[in-house]
Amino acid sequence: MTADDFKKMAALEAVKLVRPDMVLGLGTGSTAAHFVAALGEKTRDGLYVTAVPTSEDTARKAAAAGIEIIEPDETTIIDLAVDGTDEVDPRKQLIKGGGGALLREKIIASAAKRFVVIADASKKVAELGAFALPVEIDRFSFPLTVRAVREALAALGYQNPDVRLRAGPAGPAFLSDGGNFILDCKLTRIGDAAALDRALGAIPGVVETGLFIGIADEVILAGRGGIERIG
Ligand code: 5RP
Repeated sequence: MTADDFKKMAALEAVKLVRPDMVLGLGTGSTAAHFVAALGEKTRDGLYVTAVPTSEDTARKAAAAGIEIIEPDETTIIDLAVDGTDEVDPRKQLIKGGGGALLREKIIASAAKRFVVIADASKKVAELGAFALPVEIDRFSFPLTVRAVREALAALGYQNPDVRLRAGPAGPAFLSDGGNFILDCKLTRIGDAAALDRALGAIPGVVETGLFIGIADEVILAGRGGIERIG
């Protein structure tokens, strides 16, 4: 089986948690896309739910799957959010944002009554940091924000971190759905993820970090050994 088969397996497990009339938060990425496809099948079989997508891409996929989309400003309730991840550690701390949707993903995941992470088992790590941490920043005077990010990282003891402005497919820089830049910060090992999140989040110009600390309620991992739950 491939990593994509395991992503689908985790998504099919998560779709079992959906109940009629729920307001769902739909994540972004290839694992979340499997969840959207499985949810679409269920709605075609008669299940009624509504959903808030975390990206334009997911909104398109959900609409194509026949899922009723509600605009984020039309609800104050998310019953269940389901999303993928780039890394997850044993404390359910995550690095997200590989697809550039971290801000909307974090808004929805934080607001949800229950946030379930789905992933293939390769995303499980002992310590976060091998995956470059995405940090969404405002475009205004962004070199000043980049400098402040480097200084904050140095103050926390990260030696010469590789901080790069993410390149876009159609231009010099990637733009998030909200029109912001993304910095990818290769830190190798993140000791205190909560402290790092606080330090970066305190910088004017930083919109959000890809560290999801204390947000995930349950993680569903699929791999050769079957389904593993961290809950
Ligand atoms: C998008 C994300 C994704 O959840 C993360 O990148 C995992 O993607 P995939 O499911 O394709 O492996 O955070 O911003």
